[in-house]
Amino acid sequence: MKRIPFIAGNWKMNCTTSEAVSLVEGIKALISDITPEQVEVAVCPPFTALHRVAQLIEGTYIRLGAQDVFWKDKGAYTGQISPVMLKDVGCTYVIIGHSERRGRFGVPDPDMSDELLKLFGDNDATVNRKITAALSHGLKPIVCVGETLSERERGLTDEIVRRQVIGALNSIPTESVENITFAYEPVWAIGTGNVCDAYEANRVIGMIRGIISELYSSELAERVRIQYGGSVTPENIEELALQPEIDGALVGGASLRPDSFSAIVRTTMSAKQRIGQK
Ligand code: PGA
Repeated sequence: MKRIPFIAGNWKMNCTTSEAVSLVEGIKALISDITPEQVEVAVCPPFTALHRVAQLIEGTYIRLGAQDVFWKDKGAYTGQISPVMLKDVGCTYVIIGHSERRGRFGVPDPDMSDELLKLFGDNDATVNRKITAALSHGLKPIVCVGETLSERERGLTDEIVRRQVIGALNSIPTESVENITFAYEPVWAIGTGNVCDAYEANRVIGMIRGIISELYSSELAERVRIQYGGSVTPENIEELALQPEIDGALVGGASLRPDSFSAIVRTTMSAKQRIGQK
């Protein structure tokens, strides 16, 4: 089974509209020859830049993603954005359950007490609601899972990831699962420069595929894409992309520069070609 590799840029809370314009114009110029049969590419700007970026990528192969979604279509939910709105603005993808929204930062932030961190408050149940709502409106979720440093140190990695994957897929019908991309993002690797060892990332991602296979079927599990995320750079993407289970990356910091983001896209393409996965 040849899954098409998928590179998504998570811009997080970066870029005013004009900054988003120059970033996306730069990316467009550098990957205009890449087709979605080689590598699929998505950018996930903040909500405020979605509309402008959607206009600029029209007619290209670059797809638009949002960074979060609420599960209601509309109503009295001040500050929330619905799947209907994301569809309307031109999103194909939406990141759901990022560890920064689950309220567990990889890098300790002196401005954010534990109490404040929990304010974003995503958990397995809300992540599952968001996935269900996104799918019902034809959005493709990129679902983030991953353990914290202390969970890894206590040997709980597999247990935590398993719980998050099973929680995410609760009541999701077979025919929708293929529209979900998972991103294995160990919290300790996000924004820290401590990329996960490629073999270990491959092992955990293989385990996630195993869980999907248990819950549904091995045929379906072979079709679901699972990215790695956490301190991905042009320098370390090759080793990651050479792993058979890793179907690309969710890229934070390195997605904020056209040169580094496009280098990650190109290196992924050539690595997958080398191992015959593309
Ligand atoms: P990073 O972020 O690449 O800056 O580590 C990845 C992510 O949070 O998705």
